[in-house]
Amino acid sequence: MTNPPLRLGVNIDHVATLRNARGSAYPDPVRAALVAQEAGADGITAHLREDRRHIIDLDIERLMEAIALPLNFEMAATAEMQAIALRHRPHAVCLVPEKREERTTEGGLDVASDANRLTGFIAPLREAGCRVSLFIGHDPRQIEAAVRVGAAVVELHTGQYCELIAEGRPDAAAEELAALRKGVALAHAAGLEVHAGHGLSFDTVAPFAAMSELRELNIGHFLVSEAVFMGLGPAIAEMRRLMDDARG
Ligand code: PXP
Repeated sequence: MTNPPLRLGVNIDHVATLRNARGSAYPDPVRAALVAQEAGADGITAHLREDRRHIIDLDIERLMEAIALPLNFEMAATAEMQAIALRHRPHAVCLVPEKREERTTEGGLDVASDANRLTGFIAPLREAGCRVSLFIGHDPRQIEAAVRVGAAVVELHTGQYCELIAEGRPDAAAEELAALRKGVALAHAAGLEVHAGHGLSFDTVAPFAAMSELRELNIGHFLVSEAVFMGLGPAIAEMRRLMDDARG
């Protein structure tokens, strides 16, 4: 039996990080999105953070105009971001937790503790035609809560697994991978579309690409880093090849 296709969403945030480091106009994240499109990406992901540390409002406007691929707009569940999403109506909105002091999105959303507010927050986004995704850990309570609040998609956080691999702790990584695998199966059985991402690289993508219930992986920092050495298009093409090989 062949596995259903697995989409690759390319996160271009860190092209903007590099641009903003010098306050220049380059490298342009929209140009990166167009390169990603050419190289076999199935979607573009961009996170507009409250502090605008990488992607800025104008990038979102330009992306909506310039790219043919679906945009997955990552944002915190705030009134400001909801208004921006409703104005642009991207294909997908992925709600993520956001802390000012963090270097990157550290954990998943606590959907279970914030279910009432999130139900009300998600409803107008759904009515506007956006597929709403929640970035969560593999905790079954969070997966069940995601169904209750009306999400169409959950994206499971792979960051912990990737860190454990990087730290040379294979046993702990195997445990985390097993928990993620269970979470993917549970979310799929509950009728959610299941995505995964954070921290994925050439070395860590295979076990996720092999999970038949997963429909999309979102990958950014590693691809932009690898682009320094091999170019963005070839890095994306190589990731695509590794995903296809592991998918079988
Ligand atoms: N998915 C989500 C929800 C994220 O917040 C991020 C980071 O912005 C990613 C995927 C991509 O993570 P990375 O840049 O580490 O590949």
